[in-house]
Amino acid sequence: MADPLFIAIDGPAGVGKSTVARKLAERLGFTHVDSGATYRAAALKVLESGASPDDERAVIEIVARADIRLVTDGRQARVLLDGQDVSRRIRKPEVTLAASKVSRLPEVRQRLIALQRSVPVGRGMVMEGRDIGTVVFPEAPLKIFLRADPEERARRRLGQEREEGQARSLVETAREIERRDRLDSERKVSPLVAAPDACQIDSTRLTADQVVEQIVTLAREKKLIL
Ligand code: DC
Repeated sequence: MADPLFIAIDGPAGVGKSTVARKLAERLGFTHVDSGATYRAAALKVLESGASPDDERAVIEIVARADIRLVTDGRQARVLLDGQDVSRRIRKPEVTLAASKVSRLPEVRQRLIALQRSVPVGRGMVMEGRDIGTVVFPEAPLKIFLRADPEERARRRLGQEREEGQARSLVETAREIERRDRLDSERKVSPLVAAPDACQIDSTRLTADQVVEQIVTLAREKKLIL
């Protein structure tokens, strides 16, 4: 059997990473892993513990002791906090902002990156995040960096939030995206940058299916899949 294939998908919030990564994994029969969920679970633990996400010492200590796991059924990895599936709770706006803050700390990243690397690969894996192609799996033979115009990203994020039952305005969502972009790009450890060998795709005017198609074509051109 061929070696399992790793596909890394990185990019900022609202570029359609999750939808594309999920659909791509489904299409190829690979496991989909959302690395952001681990930072969100860590942030949820910090908030639940009553600590401020800005209190670095407290965050480091809480995350070091937190019971965070990534479990997979071969298709989808789910994040468990203290043994409970927190997939929904980690989508709340306060967790989103806290995740951006806790993910700046090297001690937190070290622990969660080890967790992300420990997920069984299965037939192959599509992992999405900010630093998958640069830090988590720099040896991935296919790295995608997704971009999209800021207005389109805010619109998509808002649609996603509404589906999750949260009511916010486009202006609020755009402001939060801008703030997170700044936090994610300016942090010292693993900032959001494209790997030098990443294929960049601008998804502004593409549907998720069209992006998936482009990635499949790239994988074929590289002779990674038939
Ligand atoms: O992709 P997301 O919105 O679920 O990510 C939540 C936060 O986690 C994001 O603000 C930055 C951080 N993150 C990270 O630092 N590295 C990753 N590989 C994934 C997410």
